[in-house]
Amino acid sequence: MSETNALPLPVARSVAALRRTVQAWRAAGLRVGFVPTMGALHAGHLSLVDMARARADRVVVSIFVNPTQFGPNEDFGKYPRQEAADAARLAAFGVDLLYAPAVDEMYPAGAATTVKVGVVTERLEGVCRPGHFDGVATIVAKLLNQVQPHVAVFGEKDYQQLLVVRRLAADLDMDTDIVPGPTVREADGLAMSSRNAYLSDEDRAVAASLPSTLNFVATQLRTGADAAPLLDAGRTRLLKAGFSEVQYLDLACATTLAPLEKADRPARLLVAAKVGATRLIDNVAV
Ligand code: PAJ
Repeated sequence: MSETNALPLPVARSVAALRRTVQAWRAAGLRVGFVPTMGALHAGHLSLVDMARARADRVVVSIFVNPTQFGPNEDFGKYPRQEAADAARLAAFGVDLLYAPAVDEMYPAGAATTVKVGVVTERLEGVCRPGHFDGVATIVAKLLNQVQPHVAVFGEKDYQQLLVVRRLAADLDMDTDIVPGPTVREADGLAMSSRNAYLSDEDRAVAASLPSTLNFVATQLRTGADAAPLLDAGRTRLLKAGFSEVQYLDLACATTLAPLEKADRPARLLVAAKVGATRLIDNVAV
């Protein structure tokens, strides 16, 4: 038996196969929920599946490690790929269809269109990872067009990505509700991430200081204190804990991501830092 046949839930490998299934559901009046992922699934992804399940009659999960959102020196080649294990977990979570196209299906020869979202992409991850959000916006636009879900769930773990997706869905008049899912964390507060698999035991211990520092700084920001000295103290705390580099620790408006000097409106505290060779991001509401 081939690996594909051994998978415990239906898998679509092509846009055509995906559309056949989803169009039949829609014709039967069923609501379709969608959770896009790059696989190496953890409890954070599965919480989004639960949210989609609660809002739809049928749930599609995609697994596609999207080459266009990785920079030339990033981890596309070593990104964890474990489709059979992922498929088994998705089946157990009541997912109805796994959409797992090959790179050629998503980017056939001759493909020449990039979706570029402005403004909200200009800071933070947009600066540290040039081109990253063009890759994300292009693949998410394609996935939403292909699946045409009534509702799609995106994690607050990637808060800037969530805002980018909201913007593109609104600007391209997509008929899909974009629903945010809260960040799922390990017992010590570290946000779950497929990239946590890269951490050595030593790095993993250092990584726990990321959420504790976010909470430490956020608690003081909530008193209305000036952000600048608190952000400096937070950066120092991360470096002392063993992070090798703090790429940003910033307070930003929760809807536009414009920088804030104090938390005088709904705000988000966002961080990107490196422990060893591993880059981690996280954020909390302020
Ligand atoms: P990936 O990193 O696999 O994440 C898939 C979805 O899971 C994203 O919406 C992400 O925000 C969410 N997620 C990740 N960790 C989470 C956690 N600890 N708690 C809750 N949700 C979490 O994000 C991507 O893939 C890609 O950029 C993608 C949107 C699929 C486009 O390629």
